[in-house]
Formats: sequence, C-alpha cells, structure tokens
Amino acid sequence: MKRLVVVSNRVADPGCLASGGLAVCILDGLKERGGVWFGWNGEIVASEAEIGVSCRRDGKVTFVTMPISERDYKEHYLGFCNAALWPVHHYRLDLARFTPESCEAYRRVNSRFAEALAPQLNPDDLIWVHDYHLIPFAAELRAHGVRNRIGFFLHIPFPPPDVLVAVPEHEWLMEAMCAYDVVGFQTRTDQANFCRFLCEAMGGEMVTPEVVRVSGRVLTASVFPAGVCVDSFSAMATRPEAEKRIQWLHRRGEPRTNIIGVDRLDYTKGLPDRFRSFKRLLELYPENRKAVTLMQIAPPTREEVKAYADIRHELEALSGEINGQFGDFDWTPVRYVHRSVPRDTLAALYRGSQIGLVTPLRDGMNLVAKEYVAAQDETDPGVLVLSRFAGAAEDLEEALIVNPYDTDEVAQAMQHAILMPKQEKIERHTALLARVREHDARNWMEGFLQALDAPPAPLASLLSTPSATFDALQPWGVPAPTAQLSAAPNGRATASRGFRSAAMPQAHSIRAAEIISTAPRA
Ligand code: ADP
Ligand code: F6P
Repeated sequence: MKRLVVVSNRVADPGCLASGGLAVCILDGLKERGGVWFGWNGEIVASEAEIGVSCRRDGKVTFVTMPISERDYKEHYLGFCNAALWPVHHYRLDLARFTPESCEAYRRVNSRFAEALAPQLNPDDLIWVHDYHLIPFAAELRAHGVRNRIGFFLHIPFPPPDVLVAVPEHEWLMEAMCAYDVVGFQTRTDQANFCRFLCEAMGGEMVTPEVVRVSGRVLTASVFPAGVCVDSFSAMATRPEAEKRIQWLHRRGEPRTNIIGVDRLDYTKGLPDRFRSFKRLLELYPENRKAVTLMQIAPPTREEVKAYADIRHELEALSGEINGQFGDFDWTPVRYVHRSVPRDTLAALYRGSQIGLVTPLRDGMNLVAKEYVAAQDETDPGVLVLSRFAGAAEDLEEALIVNPYDTDEVAQAMQHAILMPKQEKIERHTALLARVREHDARNWMEGFLQALDAPPAPLASLLSTPSATFDALQPWGVPAPTAQLSAAPNGRATASRGFRSAAMPQAHSIRAAEIISTAPRA
C-alpha cells in the first residue's frame, strides 16, 4: 500500500477536543489506514524566523506540523481564508472582504507549506490536500518538481460561477485548482458548479460526467460525501458513563423533550434563525412550554473576524430574550453552552435528545447530522430535523427536511417530530442509519483514495497524456462533451459564455501560468 500524506490547514490533536468536520473525519480515517498528516499546528509565532517543522508519532499516524506567523494568521487565515473565501463559498457575498495583502499572504503560506513538505515526499506517496485554505498547494508542489498524483477535497460548498467570480483572484485560483489530478466535492451540486465554471469560463470540456479536460490537463471531479465512524460513535453513546449522563439530562431537565443543536458558532449555521424558530414553537404550540428545552452547544470559532463577533452578540441577546419571555423558576427554555465538549459527552447528549436540530443556512456536509443518527437508540430513536441547505440533505432524505429561513416551517417540523408516532420514528431512523453507514468515514476515504490511486482503466492513458484528443477516447465509448464549445482561432475550444474579468493581479497570473505550464505529471 502506498504511503498516504494528508495535508490540511487544521491538523487534529488526538488528545484534544476537535470541533470541526474536517479534523474529525480525517482523524477517523487516518487512524485506521496510517500515514502522514501535515499542516498548521494551531500555534501563532511572532515572526517568520521562528517557524520550524516538528514531527510526532501517535499510533499509525505521523504528525508533521508547523506554526504560522502572527501576520499570516491575520492576513491568510482570518483574512483571505475566512473573510473572503469562506463567505463566498457559503453564498454570503455581503460578508466577504477582499484585500490584495490577504491574497498575497494566502499565496505565501501555500508556498511556504509546499516548500517544507516537498523534500519529505517519496515518489510514490499519495498526496491528499484538504479544503479552501490550500487550493494552490498542488501548483506550488508541482513548482518544486513533485510528480506524484495529488488529490484535493473541498469540505465546504462550491458556489455557482456567478457567485465565485466575486473573488477578484478567481481566475488564478481556478487555474491553480486544475493542477490536481482528482478534485472531490461533498455534493452533486458542488461538483456541477465546479464543472460549469471550468466549461463556461475556462474553455474546459467534459470528457465524461466526471472527467474534464481544461488548461492543458485532464482532471477527475467527483462526489465523495464525507461521513462519520458509525460504530465508534454509537459505542460512545452506549457506554455506562453515557447512560448516566442521559439519566442526568432527564432528571435535571423536567421537560419531556430535549432538542439538541451542536455547531461551531458560525454565521453559516443559522443559529439566530434556529432560536427564532424555537420561539415560534413556543408561541404557536403553547403546550410545549415547560415541556421542551433547546440545548445549543456552540463553541467559539474565528472570533477575531467581525461577522463571528456579531453573531455571538446576536445569539446571546436572543437566548436572553427567549428565556426572559418564557422561562420560569423551574424551566429554562434555551440552554446555551459556548464551549467545546468531549466527544463522548456529545454522543450521550445526542442519544438523550428526542430531536436533533441541524439547520445551517449553507453547509458543505454537516457531520453533526450524521453523528446524531449514529448515536440514537434504534428501538426508540429521536428525529432529525435537517436544513435543505446542508450537504447532508442530498442523502438523508428521511429526515424532516426544512427551509431554515422559514421559522414557522421549522417550528412546525419540531412539532411534527414531538408528536411523531414511535413506529414512524423507527422507520425513518432505520433508513437514515443505513445511509449514514453507506457513506461513512472509511468509505469516504477509500473512495477518494481509489480514484486518486487507480483511475478507471479506459481513462488511465488519457489522464497521463494531457494532449490526447477527444477522438482517442471514442473506442472506449466515452460520451461526447456536454458543454457547448466553439473552436477558437488557435484551435483550442472556448466557452460560449465566459466569466472572465480583466482585473487580476499580474504577479499571480504570471506565477500561476508558469506553475501550471511547467507542472510535471504523474
Ligand atoms: P464544520 O466542519 O463546519 O464545523 P460539521 O458539522 O461537519 O461542521 O462538523 C463539526 C464537528 O465538530 C462534528 O464532528 C462535531 O461533533 C464537532 N463539534 C461541534 N461542536 C462541538 C463542541 N461544542 N464540542 C466538541 N465537538 C464539537
Ligand atoms: O469544514 C469546514 C471547516 O473550515 C474545516 O476546514 C475546519 O475543520 C472547520 O471548518 C473548523 O474551522 P477552523 O479550522 O477554522 O477552526
């Protein structure tokens, strides 16, 4: 088996509480298969001179990590990653902030990380890069002469082309993304948006529904829904300590129904709307007063970004308002916990809650939805209320699917869940659990690595000969390209409609073009 080298901005520390889907699903998969995990160690140092690589082994995983400087933390992590790319990818152009310095820092950090990793790679390592912090990472590695196959998985949504073009450097970013051999997405919608951009704005052509020829390269763009480790989660939820916590929950909380929400305190998670929906539940169905509690666990995240500080204030005000209006000496309607909790405590809380409320306004996948299903008692399960805008909704059809912006609809779904007959709950949960098992952490990792390591035989030769013509594929029955393309005077196909904008930092264009055109191929 080839050595796996995972690269991500956030590297989980197995001894600490992880709140973030990426860290959770990589750790689950990597612990089993083994390999190297390279990335930021979460530390911030005063100057670049203090940056050094450290190495540590835990079980089958070797952690190779490095800190970033204070300047890069501000301009790269908080700046380009979380004040520009994150809001754009979550369709929130109103919150996006772009500066040339932050984009430059993004390029700088990617370049420094690639420089640190390149000398440690073996020629047959499989390299798997994760998430929006590292889009140009493969292009940077290629510039260091790395010829390995390199894959990329995007944990967050990929927006429609006319949203993406709001990023001033979108052309450079997308060219860089084409330096990967396999690009993976959470949902079909994300994959389609990506392919649309390549075809409509970059003159790409679909060779098959998952293979694109673009910018002189051929890459695979497929869907690999991220998942959780079902057995380990349900085992945590059924330990004797978990049982004690569940009993405590019911003894202390007089109410019959506990509704649980677990999310980083991020504006994409729809928490204010969720609280307003809970308030509507108490208004529309007053019989739930003193009978239902909403427990929201929302650890802090990216607090130095203004939009995150704003959401915290809004949520605190809302929980105070609801508790003030409806609460009584013996009942607190909203219990709001602003910190991370151990995973086994989470598992127990999920199991002890009759409703799992997962209502993001936009989310790549949302592993909390899957964890909630995995933790339930199969003979007496709770009900999942799930936003249609979570990637998980593409798969988890048997949940009560809601529009999180429609507070009355969400309130009605909660009421539906409260009154749902046990038999219906069991039927829905059985179907959901089967889907969560089918797309678990192991299948996600194996599926991606298989695509990266062993492209389908008929395409293998094409993937290694980027100049191969479409005609060469006909004998293998590859369907005609789906995009509407026309021949340009230079013989290259061009898109009939483009999203290109003239404005793009010249340094970036030149650098990206150099990197891509000189990229050695596996
Ligand atoms: P995201 O990646 O945007 O944070 P996900 O729902 O996909 O969203 O993943 C969140 C992960 O973080 C889940 O595994 C969840 O259990 C974990 N998590 C969220 N909140 C907490 C918390 N308060 N304490 C511990 N873990 C948390
Ligand atoms: O899943 C999206 C994501 O950005 C992950 O990359 C990350 O693990 C999680 O959210 C938490 O974010 P951060 O790494 O910024 O704390």
